[in-house]
Amino acid sequence: MQKGEIPIYEPGLDVLFDRNIAEDRLKFTTNIVEGIEGAEVIFLALPTPPDEDGSADLKYILGVANDLGPILKDYAVIVDKSTVPVGTAEKVRAAIAKNATVDFDVVSNPEFLREGVAVEDFMKPDRVVVGTTSDRAKKVMERLYAPLVRQGNPVIFMDERSAEMTKYAANSFLALKITFMNEIANLCERVGANVDDIRRGIGTDSRIGKRFLFAGIGYGGSCFPKDVQALAKTSIDYGYDFRTLKSVMAVNADQKKKLLPIVEDYFQGSLAGKTIAVWGLAFKPYTDDIREAPALENIEALLAAGAKVTAYDPEAMENVKKQIPDITYCHTAYAALDDADALMIFTEWPQFRTPDFAKMGKLLKEKVVFDGRNLYELNTMKEHGFTYYSIGREAVNPVEEPVA
Ligand code: UDX
Repeated sequence: MQKGEIPIYEPGLDVLFDRNIAEDRLKFTTNIVEGIEGAEVIFLALPTPPDEDGSADLKYILGVANDLGPILKDYAVIVDKSTVPVGTAEKVRAAIAKNATVDFDVVSNPEFLREGVAVEDFMKPDRVVVGTTSDRAKKVMERLYAPLVRQGNPVIFMDERSAEMTKYAANSFLALKITFMNEIANLCERVGANVDDIRRGIGTDSRIGKRFLFAGIGYGGSCFPKDVQALAKTSIDYGYDFRTLKSVMAVNADQKKKLLPIVEDYFQGSLAGKTIAVWGLAFKPYTDDIREAPALENIEALLAAGAKVTAYDPEAMENVKKQIPDITYCHTAYAALDDADALMIFTEWPQFRTPDFAKMGKLLKEKVVFDGRNLYELNTMKEHGFTYYSIGREAVNPVEEPVA
């Protein structure tokens, strides 16, 4: 970053990055003393990976908190930006207080941005949540966020524990919403209904809302899986049996593997020697992030079953190569189809939405698509003569009865 390079792919970030470096407002250092020099607000945006039992590992955050105490020179607001379990603000405060010689406040300020639209979400947040009971810190945070909430969206103040809990509740609720729709989809397949229509039919009810109702091959990413797991662990720690959360985790694990038996059945129980083209490796579009991406465990399973895989993703191939070197990575989506026996789709990149179906049909050895993201209209696939399996909708030209 000191060289002016961004190590991740995130649309629009380069513009902010370049402009603020040019205006001499943004600098990078690995030296903590230099990093906090003159700072009124210090953000702790550190990783909180799950440790063995699913709880968030706080070693990075508390490590920095320990380092901060002795070097604070003036009052500062220390902001917990990372997603951290209930009670972390108190731990951070205690770690700093051990060696601090000046006043400071620790506030919890969870981040709700989505990868791929992170800049937009940050600049125009639906709301900003700040957990603090200090009036002094509250004033600083109000001043800090004022430019981002001019449209009238609220900065919601609450105590630290509630702010920490808000983040987990938000992500777990969204994971639940998606998972609920995935189960509706699974039932749709059995009763002969179409989950796309159900989505439209319920999403227009403002109490339900249109977003995060898209059934698919399961949620992935760095947040939902980790946060649902961490909240489940918190529940155990506090002696509460959070049953819906347990179901969300179990259903999502199954959902990610949902297409595999259908693919196997299509090929009469054996994938040995078959080549499967894969479109989409990232856990969602507009990112190169592959953490908990459904594509990965599907590819591993295909390889284990003796299949070959030819893959294409606009951004994530380099990252996958490091984990799964022994598949063929292609320069274009169509190149992945060349001589493949079937296509599987795991990420809803916009460039996959309106392909040249005739060209696809010619390249593929068999005109069969297994779509984990419901990209195509059933009629379109019928017209082009494909066999097409998607999520929560009837199979098009199935070879046998679809395996539900
Ligand atoms: C999420 C939260 O949305 C964000 O508020 C929080 O700060 C971080 O975690 P992110 O992980 O970047 O953001 O991605 P998101 O867009 O929420 O998607 C998460 C997963 O859910 C993806 O795998 C996506 O494909 C899946 N998803 C999303 C669905 O399967 N269906 C939907 O309707 C929406």
